[in-house]
Amino acid sequence: MSKIATLEVDGQKIELPVITGSENESAIDINKLRDLTGIITIDPGYKNSGSCKSEITFLDGELGILRYRGYSIEDLAEKASFLEVSYLLIFGELPTAQQLEQFETDIKKHTLVNEEMKNIIDGFPKTAHPMGVLSALTSALTAFNPKAVNVDNEKEMYEAICKTMGKFLVIATWTYRKSMGYPLNYYDNTKGYVENFMHLMFQLPTGPYKANPIIVDALDKLFILHADHEQNCSTSTVRMVGSSHAGLFASISAGVSALWGPLHGGANQAVLEMLEEINKDGGDTEKFLAKAKDKNDPFRLMGFGHRVYKNFDPRARIIKKAAKEVLETLGVEDPILEIAKKLEAAALEDEYFKSRNLYPNVDFYSGIIYRALGIPTDMFTVMFAIGRLPGWIAQWKEMRENKEPIGRPRQIYTGHPLREFKSNK
Ligand code: SDX
Repeated sequence: MSKIATLEVDGQKIELPVITGSENESAIDINKLRDLTGIITIDPGYKNSGSCKSEITFLDGELGILRYRGYSIEDLAEKASFLEVSYLLIFGELPTAQQLEQFETDIKKHTLVNEEMKNIIDGFPKTAHPMGVLSALTSALTAFNPKAVNVDNEKEMYEAICKTMGKFLVIATWTYRKSMGYPLNYYDNTKGYVENFMHLMFQLPTGPYKANPIIVDALDKLFILHADHEQNCSTSTVRMVGSSHAGLFASISAGVSALWGPLHGGANQAVLEMLEEINKDGGDTEKFLAKAKDKNDPFRLMGFGHRVYKNFDPRARIIKKAAKEVLETLGVEDPILEIAKKLEAAALEDEYFKSRNLYPNVDFYSGIIYRALGIPTDMFTVMFAIGRLPGWIAQWKEMRENKEPIGRPRQIYTGHPLREFKSNK
């Protein structure tokens, strides 16, 4: 029996349908609200508003549950590879061995980036933040692949997906190479996808390079943990930009820019900078907790809190465990890890954080692993983008396949009423 919601406003009573998803989440469908009442809803930050129906990711913020296409993040992080999870997110099912091999082979057909793209990256100063360079290079890929993808043509869509997966990884590492003044590397089709990340980043022309398999495994898991997260800020941006039928590269470029913000993906860099500041200041975590609670102090405990998770972010649990294992295996002693643990323990006991359900999120520990793996701090959010790429692709594809309307929210105007023009000159 379908549920309805009754709304009474200005003496008018209307009924609105309530839709229920496969995990029993419900939403009032306000599609007809303005037609029926002339009234709209308003919800800054969309804390209570759904933008779409989606079959890709389910998360329960109260219970700390995260699933990609119905599989738990714990299972996927433990048992699958990043490319396998990418395939699952994008095409809806785990690939057979043959499908996975074919997917990797087809990505390899598109790992060469047009040499003229180097002229674009040459235009950036070495000091440019890698996320700004990555967003620009991603958008520039359109210049070399101008034909808009016909999303209803399975072959064209598949090729655009493989092209994006192949080229994005290369240009993402170019941002690091550029900052170091190193020559830009090419994808090595004899190596695996995640191993290639290390090769693209750290292979120097002066000698052989072999990625540490422990690091490759840890990165594979980290990329899985970042692969999708339903309608977060950057994914919503990708869907919004794509809803105007802008191309996949242009939409992902916009997602990169949204992810860059320190309240979103940029938090992993901000966490490390915060922990280093605490370390430099003598490691007094209580002092910084007090700053985080002080409304007059703009300081926030980066890596803590989440719009949806009002319990532990399940990814944070997995990454915290992986951080300990990776540092032990690599024999890395990092005082920053001890500070992070001390800060976490104190915050979890503190009434301010407890009363606001503020727990460590995905960004709290990830930077500690990246640092141990030799990734520079200003590349941390690029790492997040590499992981999130298949999720952005999957969500863009779903939005286009569902033929969703162009995103165009309304507003409530609070400015001047009509006034006669009188020049102030
Ligand atoms: C990601 O959405 C996603 O799914 C994102 C993500 C993904 O995978 O795509 O999970 C990735 O972006 C993780 C979040 C990374 N950001 C940070 O770690 C930055 C620090 N966190 C905060 O800025 C904040 O918690 C947000 C932005 C993450 C969430 O903010 P909300 O939901 O808008 O919550 P809010 O700002 O309304 O805070 C509610 C209260 C406020 O206090 P009161 O006004 O009630 O007194 O909690 C306080 C806030 O001041 N608060 C914090 C805090 N986070 C919230 N106080 C101190 N330190 C913090 N980190």
